[in-house]
Amino acid sequence: MSVIQTYSKLASKYESRENLASLWGKITERTFCALQLKENPKLVVEVGCGPGLELASLVESGNTDVQFIGVEPAENLRISANEKLKAFGNAEVLDGKFEELPLESASVDHLYSILAFHWTKDLNKSVQELARVLKPDGHLDLLFIGKDAGKDFLKKISPIYFKKLSARQVLDMASERQRLTAEEVEEAFRPFFADRKLEITETFETFYDTLEGHWSWWCRIEGQFATMSQETRKECDDAAREALKALETENGIPYTAHLFHVSVR
Ligand SMILES: C[S@@+](CC[C@H](N)C(=O)[O-])C[C@H]1O[C@@H](n2cnc3c(N)ncnc32)[C@H](O)[C@@H]1O
Repeated sequence: MSVIQTYSKLASKYESRENLASLWGKITERTFCALQLKENPKLVVEVGCGPGLELASLVESGNTDVQFIGVEPAENLRISANEKLKAFGNAEVLDGKFEELPLESASVDHLYSILAFHWTKDLNKSVQELARVLKPDGHLDLLFIGKDAGKDFLKKISPIYFKKLSARQVLDMASERQRLTAEEVEEAFRPFFADRKLEITETFETFYDTLEGHWSWWCRIEGQFATMSQETRKECDDAAREALKALETENGIPYTAHLFHVSVR
């Protein structure tokens, strides 16, 4: 199952309280709160908008002269986002992806994306697409996951879950997500934005939670476990809880988020 099909399958779980309260939920909320839209935009776009929570809140508080477009490849998430936006005449969510944006060249004043760019299958084509659709003075804000997200956490538990997956599933999992270093992000973006103010910020932040708390975000980035039976999943979770004891502190189990923020002004 591709990552897009998995997201569509898990759409009804995406807005669960647990997922929204998880570390990735907090990161989305914080990133969205810090977003400062370009002044007087005509067109604002969010790519990988999921169920449209952030886009809907922007549309609600925004000017009705501004056109808002979400781009979301997972059908059920797109349906859910369009449901939230249907009361507004100036917003819609289109089928599309970073690799092929359903947008006119030089049309976007501000394009933002939260926790989605790491899913692109073609890095070069996607950056080219972003450069194509932005106006010459358009703003870009991308927040996405870097190579080392959850390194220690996953090192402890991956062997447990991998034992229950087929070789094909493990290979598919490894190739699904871009795992970029700071140098690779720089190399990918600099040539396309050489004449713009490009800033790439790399951060590492550790969040502490219970295993249940951590697993409540699994539908965001480790959705391939959706193919496991409940019974196998429970067996793996019990073994993972044991394995993670070695990392546990009095604050809980640590997970270090590795993030990039790419900004173009
Ligand atoms: C972790 S969710 C983030 C959703 C929302 N932005 C948030 O922060 O809650 C990742 C989103 O990226 C979408 N996605 C996956 N592959 C993509 C691609 N190639 N281009 C654009 N979006 C993609 C998924 O369908 C999903 O909605």
